[in-house]
Amino acid sequence: MDIKIAASCGFCFGVKRAIRLAEENAGALTLGELIHNKKETSRLESDYSVHIANNLDEIDASRPVIIRTHGIEKETKAQLLQKTARVIDATCPYVTKPQEIAAKMSQEGYTVVIFGDKEHPEVKGLRSYADGALVVSEPSELVGVRLESHVALISQTTKTLAAFRRLADYLIERVKEVRVFNTICNATFDNQEATRTLAGEVQMMIVIGGKNSSNTKQLYAIAKQICDESYLVEDASELEQSWFAGKKLCGISAGASTPDWIIREVQDAVARL
Ligand code: F3S
Repeated sequence: MDIKIAASCGFCFGVKRAIRLAEENAGALTLGELIHNKKETSRLESDYSVHIANNLDEIDASRPVIIRTHGIEKETKAQLLQKTARVIDATCPYVTKPQEIAAKMSQEGYTVVIFGDKEHPEVKGLRSYADGALVVSEPSELVGVRLESHVALISQTTKTLAAFRRLADYLIERVKEVRVFNTICNATFDNQEATRTLAGEVQMMIVIGGKNSSNTKQLYAIAKQICDESYLVEDASELEQSWFAGKKLCGISAGASTPDWIIREVQDAVARL
C-alpha cells in the first residue's frame, strides 16, 4: 500500500518544540501541563521522568523547570526565576510575540485590547504584560466601555481572522488611532488545508485523532466530503483490513492533538497491509 501523509498534520510547531525541549531535559519539572494531551504527558513522565508541578509550591529547585507552550503570567515567571535559575522556556514563539507587543504598546500609552477567551491560560499570560488590558471575545462586550484615543488590538493565537476583523472594524469606527496586530497562528488552518488537498489525491483517507477532539472531527468531515472512503481512528488497533481491499494509495492525516509516534504506528500498520 502506498501512503501519502498530509503536508501539515498532527502536533503544531510550538508543541513539537516543547516536547523536544522536555526530551532534552529528562528529569525536569513542567509548571502545569506542558501541553493539553494526557497520552503525551504520561509518555514524558514514564520515558523521561518529566513530571508536572501544579504550582510554584511544588517546584523543587534541584530540578530544571519547563514553562508550558501557552506561557505563564509575567508575575509567575518572576517568582519562578526567584525559586530557580534553571528555567527552560517552552512558550511557543507565536505566544511570546504578542506578549512582547502588549508590553511595548502598554509602555507607549496605548490601551491594549485582547481578542480572546478570558479564562484561557494563554490570554491570562498575555494580559499580564499590559496594565489595564481589556479582554473581549466579541465587539458587543465593548458597548458602553469608554475607550482611550489610542488602542492596540492583539489576538489570542487560535482565533479566526474573520472574527478578529469584526472587532478591528468596531474599534476603527470609534477610536482615533487603532494599531492592529495580527497575532493569529495558522497551525490549525494549515492542517485543514493540507487534509483537503490530500483527500483529493488519494483513494482512501485515514484521519487519526481522539473521537472527542473537535479539531480531529473537523478534519474527518473535510476528508469525508472529498473522499468518500475516509475513516477516523484513534490508533493502529482500530484499522480494519476490509477498508483497504483493492486500494493502492492511502492518505493519512491527524488532528492537532495526535503525537508523531501514533502517526508513525498507523503509517507502519497501513504499510504492512
Ligand atoms: Fe501551536 Fe504555537 Fe500555534 S503552540 S497552535 S504553533 S501558537
